Amino acid sequence: MLATYSSASVPTRLRPADLLRITDQGASEVLDGRHDVLLPQSWPIDERWSTRLYSDDDVDVWLISWVPDRNTELHDHAGSFGALTVLSGALSEFRWAGDQLRHRTLDAGDQASFPLGWVHDVVRAPDAPGAEVVTPTLSVHAYSPPLSAMSYYEVTDHGTLRRTRTELTDLPEGGSK
Ligand SMILES: [Fe+2]
Repeated sequence: MLATYSSASVPTRLRPADLLRITDQGASEVLDGRHDVLLPQSWPIDERWSTRLYSDDDVDVWLISWVPDRNTELHDHAGSFGALTVLSGALSEFRWAGDQLRHRTLDAGDQASFPLGWVHDVVRAPDAPGAEVVTPTLSVHAYSPPLSAMSYYEVTDHGTLRRTRTELTDLPEGGSK
């Protein structure tokens, strides 16, 4: 069946384009220094870090700082739509495409939106060999309705997707904070 966005069939009045615009606005605000009070003195290098930039009944907006070797596990966003804008650095996304994982790199300035049922794993893209890491990998994410649960998945030996657990959470992208 063709997906539609009538108000009767989705749990939010916001559309993917709205979420993309919201994350773009959030990214601009971070770059303009308007959220500096929320930012750490120095960017954590061992664990993913996040802070909520904005929240209301319709949408939750987060800034995430990504570190190497910390993936999110394969997950969905339960009943929430999602979107992101990459501010700096780059992310690797591995999305379940029905029969395999598909990879894409999201560079600074890139955006992505996530419809219901989107299952992906996200990790900081590898730095170039020998590169000196001077800028953090940052992205702004929006979820609507605000995130309340995530399910986790594994790819089985015979190439199918198996849901392994569901967690109630309002923390973004795997809950590392
Ligand atoms: Fe996600």
